Amino acid sequence: MKSQASTPEAIARAALALESGQLVAFPTETVYGLGADAENPAAVANIYAAKGRPSNHPVIVHVAPGADISYWAKDIPAEAQQLIDAFWPGPLTLILKRADHIPDAVSGGQDTVGIRCPSHPVAQELLRAFKGGKGGVAAPSANKFGHVSPTMAAHVEEEFEQEIQPGGLIASILDGGQSDVGIESTIVDLSRLATHGPVLLRPGHITVAQMAAVLGTTPAAPDAAAPRASGTLDAHYAPHTPVILVEAAELDDTVNRLHAKNKKLALMSYQAHPAIHAEAWRHLPADPAGYAHDLYAGLRELDHADADLILVEALPQDKDWQGVNDRLRRAAFDSRDVLQEMLG
Ligand code: TXA
Ligand code: MG
Repeated sequence: MKSQASTPEAIARAALALESGQLVAFPTETVYGLGADAENPAAVANIYAAKGRPSNHPVIVHVAPGADISYWAKDIPAEAQQLIDAFWPGPLTLILKRADHIPDAVSGGQDTVGIRCPSHPVAQELLRAFKGGKGGVAAPSANKFGHVSPTMAAHVEEEFEQEIQPGGLIASILDGGQSDVGIESTIVDLSRLATHGPVLLRPGHITVAQMAAVLGTTPAAPDAAAPRASGTLDAHYAPHTPVILVEAAELDDTVNRLHAKNKKLALMSYQAHPAIHAEAWRHLPADPAGYAHDLYAGLRELDHADADLILVEALPQDKDWQGVNDRLRRAAFDSRDVLQEMLG
């Protein structure tokens, strides 16, 4: 099965598929999600099966605009409503105390629930059609566990070749074009406000500074007791080809030394490097939003270049770049020793 254009009929069929317990991949403004009825534990279990993801990892519940979040969460603090008013619909996920009737499957057995209202028009139409807008769609990113998230329908097809065959786990893929934001939502934990204040679990397009301006207090970095998030594992978001971050000043030299070892290189840069020759090259915009938009598509393209390494020009370390730096650090984590081994 190929992805389908998001016509009203296709969206209505997708909503029915979700209601009958099937899985549907759909576009959001951040990345594509692999959705299931959040109140159907068997359907949620199929998400884990399709992704190859451990079942103790919680999934985000996506709700329609104007949804009653008190259905999903309890002890909702005023700060939640402040952030919702400022940033929903949009790329921000709130972690709140889970309402008692919400199935364990969604929260990976934790006493919290992650909720987000996406701004992508196709996601919103799907959420409005599903259970008359009163349901929740549990959806992690539509990729195999640990791999690069999809920002286009074609990426979802490439991730789930098996699962989209007739009789496979995924009923349909709605095509909504390329995701605008390009990296996953910012996640902020509001479930332990009294003791820890707001805590940033995953940086993203909505920055700490933007949230601080609304809350009057700056979300803290995660502490040891913070709720688990698989997007916060050291290794994640990784292509199959090893990814190496290299400072701009060292790129030339690194490329030369690797070529001397007959290595084939893919390069992702954001500043001009006319002198450097790599077998595949992707140039990304020099601003955080533009870079995030193209990041995953760029990594996937370079992953197909049949290179020995993907070299990524290291980015500025300031706060505006926190979201993309976080993703690149995790994409490169498993290959941190590869460069020394190749040059050694
Ligand atoms: O932008 C996004 O957030 C995308 C789109 C599809 O909405 N979804 C996404 O889902 O990135 P996923 O599952 O790939 O990443 C969600 C992260 C995981 O790291 C998960 O552990 C964390 O959110 N999470 C979900 N519910 C949580 C909870 N109750 N407590 C702590 N972390 C939670
Ligand atoms: Mg993910």
